[in-house]
This record gives sequence, C-alpha cells and structure tokens, in this order.
Amino acid sequence: MTTMSHKVDHADTAQRLKSLELQAKEAQTTIEELNARDALKTQFLSNISHDLRTPLAAIITHAEVLRDGMLGDLNEKQRESVTGIVSGGQQLLDMIDEILTYVRGAGDQLTLTRTEFSMIELVDQVRMLNQALAAKKKLTIERLNGDDLPPVYADRDKLKHVLGNLIGNAIKFTPEGGRIWIRMSRYAQDADQLVVEVGDTGRGIAAENHELVFQEFAQVDASPSRPHHGTGLGLAIARKLVELHEGTIWVESELGKGSRFFFRIPLNPARG
Ligand SMILES: Nc1ncnc2c1ncn2[C@@H]1O[C@H](COP(=O)(O)OP(=O)(O)O)[C@@H](O)[C@H]1O
Ligand SMILES: [Mg+2]
Repeated sequence: MTTMSHKVDHADTAQRLKSLELQAKEAQTTIEELNARDALKTQFLSNISHDLRTPLAAIITHAEVLRDGMLGDLNEKQRESVTGIVSGGQQLLDMIDEILTYVRGAGDQLTLTRTEFSMIELVDQVRMLNQALAAKKKLTIERLNGDDLPPVYADRDKLKHVLGNLIGNAIKFTPEGGRIWIRMSRYAQDADQLVVEVGDTGRGIAAENHELVFQEFAQVDASPSRPHHGTGLGLAIARKLVELHEGTIWVESELGKGSRFFFRIPLNPARG
C-alpha cells in the first residue's frame, strides 16, 4: 500500500516537473523574443533620431544664413519669420538629441569620463547658456553660494546635461516674473558628498507625482493640448546620469508652491 502511493506520488511529481520545465522553457523563449524586439526598437529609435537630425541641422543652418542677411537684406517681417524657423528647428533638434541620449543610455552605451573641475564654474556656464531663454519670460537665475566648495572629480559634460535639464524645466514650468536659483552644499550626513539644488517659484508638483516625473516619457500634463512640450525624457536621463555617478536625484515640491530638485554625488570618488 505504501509502495503503491509512493509510486503514484513519484509519477505525479515527475509529471509536474516536466510541465514546470516546459513552462520555464516557454517563458525563456518569450523573454528572448521580447529582448530581441526591444533591441530592435532601440536600434530603430537610434537610427531614426540620427536620420532626422541630419536634414534638420541643414534646415537650421540655411535658415541662419538667411536670418543673418548673408543672402541679402530682409525686411523686419521676413527676419521675424526666419527667426521663428531657427528657434522652432532648434527646439526640435534639442528633443531629438534628448531621444538619442536616452537611447544610448537604454543600450548601456553611457560611460563616465571623469576630470577635476569646479562645479560653480559649470553652474555659471549653464546659467549663462539659459539666460536668454529666462529673460524672455522675465525670470531670474541666480547662483546663491558655492564659492568655498572644493573641485569635483566627475563627468563634466554629463553633469552639464543634468543641470541643463533641471534649469530648462525650471524655466519651462515657472510663469513670468518668477525666480530660479542654484544652491550647493556638502551633504550634512557625509561631507564627501555634494548636494546641488535647482529651485524655482513655478507651478510645483503634487506629492503623488514626485516619483512619476523621473520615469521615462512621464509628464504630469500629458494631454496633446498641454501648454509645454517635451519628450518626458529629461528627468529620466538626468536620473540615469546622476546614478552613473553613484548619486541620487529627488524633488521636494508642493502643487503651486514651486519646486526644488536636488542631486547628490560623491565629491571625489576613489580614482581608479
Ligand atoms: N521645475 C518643474 N516644475 C514643475 N513641474 C516640473 C518641473 N520639472 C519637471 N516637471 C514635471 O515633470 C515632467 C517630466 O519632466 P521631464 O522629464 O524633463 O520631461 P519634459 O520636460 O520633456 O516634459 C514635466 O512634464 C513636468 O510635468
Ligand atoms: Mg524637461
């Protein structure tokens, strides 16, 4: 009797094992298929972004030649129109570049090139680059402190991209007459880490969206009629770049009360 039930159990277990094996195999095939499709999509995005970039860059250059009067004088209306082509094209190019950066990150093609540099100089540079855009909306961008901070050993271009994204967002989501500031300090719990804050007096972000905004393609207002346009990739990229530095990025904000974005990175990680 005991032997009997034992046999039955055994057969049962073997059967179950077999079916589990089969399921695992099927799951594995599905994963492989999905990965292959994902890689294809990444490749497609990369190619299409690159192919869009080339003619667009040509359009912008030609428009700039016209705008600058190199092919003859323009009247005021003509110049205004050509200036519109240049700035619209530039906006489009920025978005395509954002997609390209994102795709490179998705393909794990991002690596850090660290050098020693001054964070305040970098902040001031990004500030200057955004000055014209801010002035158009009557916004001020100030750096509040940082003169006493030591240099950082990090990837300058990548942190420039992060700062550019944060300041770009602050400009985009702050109404006319507002204020944007950058503040830096050593992290209270660990003096070997640097905290950079980009704050604004803009529309703010409700607590339930604080995680969402860092997700790829995520926008608080994603309706086609939304007043501000973008890819929804900026903060996802910023997070990726900060995390490559073994840092973290987060936001403190309330709806209608402005936003403060922070990132924290090691000042001088072990040089390898
Ligand atoms: N400074 C800010 N103030 C208010 N909302 C912001 C700010 N920065 C980002 N956001 C919100 O986070 C979303 C995602 O930002 P981001 O990833 O840069 O994408 P995009 O700028 O292309 O919309 C924005 O669409 C906006 O809803
Ligand atoms: Mg953005």
